[in-house]
Amino acid sequence: MSNGTIGTVLITEEQIREKAKEIGAQITKDYAGKEIILIGILRGAVPWMAEVMKRIELDMVIDFMAVSSYGAATKSSGVVKINKDLDVNIDGRDIIIVEDIVDSGVTLSYLEGYLQSRGAASIKLCSLLDKPEGRRVDIKADYVGFTVDDRFIVGYGLDYDQRYRNLPYITWLESE
Ligand code: IMP
Ligand code: MG
Repeated sequence: MSNGTIGTVLITEEQIREKAKEIGAQITKDYAGKEIILIGILRGAVPWMAEVMKRIELDMVIDFMAVSSYGAATKSSGVVKINKDLDVNIDGRDIIIVEDIVDSGVTLSYLEGYLQSRGAASIKLCSLLDKPEGRRVDIKADYVGFTVDDRFIVGYGLDYDQRYRNLPYITWLESE
């Protein structure tokens, strides 16, 4: 198994923290007086969720889901497997899904439909990164940290073969 080689720093920890503050303040405003549920998508969203949630001044509950795509061939059909389901009841609740990156959009569009079917009152998406060139389904995150171009990103939760999630900055995979 190879770790690959990585590039230089693309987005610093300081920039990410600053962005989390801005987005946290925006969410605080947008949901004033409401109690929200943040749903983090394991495992990539963990560091970003930790930053953003500290910056939201609202009553909130957090939960996590783990999902995986059914392999490349069926990916475009939007078939996603749930490996860890919700523990909290979301019926009638205002939900924000927290993700590491929106690439094809397949995962998030599936999750949106799933959470709707579980009775969520509203669903918004908050992603650390957006890779618009990768999009295969029409989906847009409501709160986006940074837009990246079409390369394989690692660090700050994002992995290559489960490695590099612990990097305190965003970089890219230069070669495998
Ligand atoms: P989707 O293609 O939008 O469904 O992306 C689903 C998942 O693919 C993301 O949550 C990431 O875990 C992973 N992913 C997509 N692009 C990248 C990348 O550039 N680096 C690391 N993981 C990625
Ligand atoms: Mg992920």
